[in-house]
Amino acid sequence: MGLLETQSNQREMMMVELTPSFLLEYETLDKDHQQLADIVNLVVKALDDDEAEKCEDLVAGFVKSAKAHFAKEEALLAKAGYPNVKKHQEHHKSLNTQMEHLLEFAKMAGENEMARDSLRKELVFFLMDDVITTDMDFKAFIEAKGNGGDG
Ligand SMILES: [Fe+2]
Ligand SMILES: [Fe+2]
Repeated sequence: MGLLETQSNQREMMMVELTPSFLLEYETLDKDHQQLADIVNLVVKALDDDEAEKCEDLVAGFVKSAKAHFAKEEALLAKAGYPNVKKHQEHHKSLNTQMEHLLEFAKMAGENEMARDSLRKELVFFLMDDVITTDMDFKAFIEAKGNGGDG
């Protein structure tokens, strides 16, 4: 007793914002990333507003959108002739376990404070580090290609 201090009065607004350096200048993919960021921000808001029970559906939507995005991105990269498409595909595949964890945290978020904290942290890092930052690997390739947004 007393060891677990709740910090319900401390609102950590950890909103995600995609600054221009994170934009790929590849309209379809940038739109997807923004959409994923929007969902993450809804999850953060639900947690801040004591509406954690909304997280399960939101995170399920996030995972579904992320998987659809990965498939779309892989297809676009293949079509554009990106040489490391296999490696990027493997990276996406390696994220499945993390996405399972996110779904689990979201499911427990209604009753469990540790799940809420983990969800908030892991989801933001997942988006920024594993989804968006790793895409910087092919940014130069796309820029050199002259993009145009339609592959
Ligand atoms: Fe992406
Ligand atoms: Fe990616």
